[in-house]
Amino acid sequence: MEQLIPIASKLQDVLGALGQTTAIDLPQIVVVGGQSSGKSSVLEAIVGRSFLPRGSGIVTRRPLVLQLFNTSHDGQSETEFGEFLHQPGKRYHDFVSIRSEIVRETERLTGPNKGIDHAPIHLKIYSPEVLSLTLVDLPGIAKVPVGDQPENIEEQIREMCMEYISNPNAIILAVTSANQDIANSDALKLAQAVDPHGTRTVGVLTKLDLMDDGTDASDILMNRVIPLRRGYVAVVNRGQRDVNNDLSIQDGLKKEESFFRAHSVYGRDRQLLAKCGTKRLSQHLNTMLMHHIRDCLPDLKNRIINMAVDVNQELEALGTPASVASGPSSGGELLRLLSKFSTNFTAIIEGRGGQND
Ligand code: GDP
Ligand code: NA
Ligand code: MG
Repeated sequence: MEQLIPIASKLQDVLGALGQTTAIDLPQIVVVGGQSSGKSSVLEAIVGRSFLPRGSGIVTRRPLVLQLFNTSHDGQSETEFGEFLHQPGKRYHDFVSIRSEIVRETERLTGPNKGIDHAPIHLKIYSPEVLSLTLVDLPGIAKVPVGDQPENIEEQIREMCMEYISNPNAIILAVTSANQDIANSDALKLAQAVDPHGTRTVGVLTKLDLMDDGTDASDILMNRVIPLRRGYVAVVNRGQRDVNNDLSIQDGLKKEESFFRAHSVYGRDRQLLAKCGTKRLSQHLNTMLMHHIRDCLPDLKNRIINMAVDVNQELEALGTPASVASGPSSGGELLRLLSKFSTNFTAIIEGRGGQND
């Protein structure tokens, strides 16, 4: 999603000049699905960093709200670091210790024996290379309580998921493993309950590498089984063995790409191949985010126009000379900036490539 970074950062300039501290409210990306379907793995692959606890059984046991901040504009050093809300001021510079802190902080509230808790862990990651965006990792749907889990574990996790995906500004990644019957997908059931028209749900099929010989997911991917308005993307994440062998995310992504290209079904059909791979999933999300920004622009323009009117009225009331009123932060200058931004942005969305600057 690197393509969006400069766009979001220009927009940030316009908003900053407007005196707005908050940027356009980009949608949160939330993953839901069954236990061990690959939710945490999908999020990590999108972010391109290994830092989430992953594995068999219930590993994610509290919601994790991950806020990414792009720092390329702050004039700060190029270093990347993480900071937890529960440890303000403490900077984590390596992702292995971020992961151990997530585990430690999970167990602090849930105990070590598979318990769950509604209270989210908040982690911020500052980096010159990420898109400023919020992603949410959630525990997977479990049917039968184990360890310290409550009798109604399934209901509790469902409620936890609903809390995040019912936000109309959330993009739902509904994760289902391909070696399971899609008709029983918990992810799709949950998504359908809050987004019946499917405007903000993307189906993500994982574990394509673990499907039985002679079977493939082409019917699902071509939207012929449970159709989703925004369709499906198939991915292959790093398996447990890859993780044990310290396969990096970047090498995992290469391995995934070769898997799909060499495959006797996906590799031979352009339409199918266009729905395969983490890279395609990122592109898909990118497009959804771009459209969201585009839809916010008219309102932004109105806000600037109204502000310009207010400023001019105030200046007139004060009897200020016109030269002062046309300073760099006046409404006219902002409108010019915004319309330049809009023109470039529309060109990018329509694939004409925007002017630089
Ligand atoms: P979560 O419980 O849904 O968050 O799932 P995790 O991301 O923790 O993954 C559960 C296990 O499945 C881990 O051991 C992963 O390495 C493995 N896994 C996830 N996705 C895939 C995949 O596409 N292929 C294979 N072979 N293993 C996967
Ligand atoms: Na798991
Ligand atoms: Mg998980």
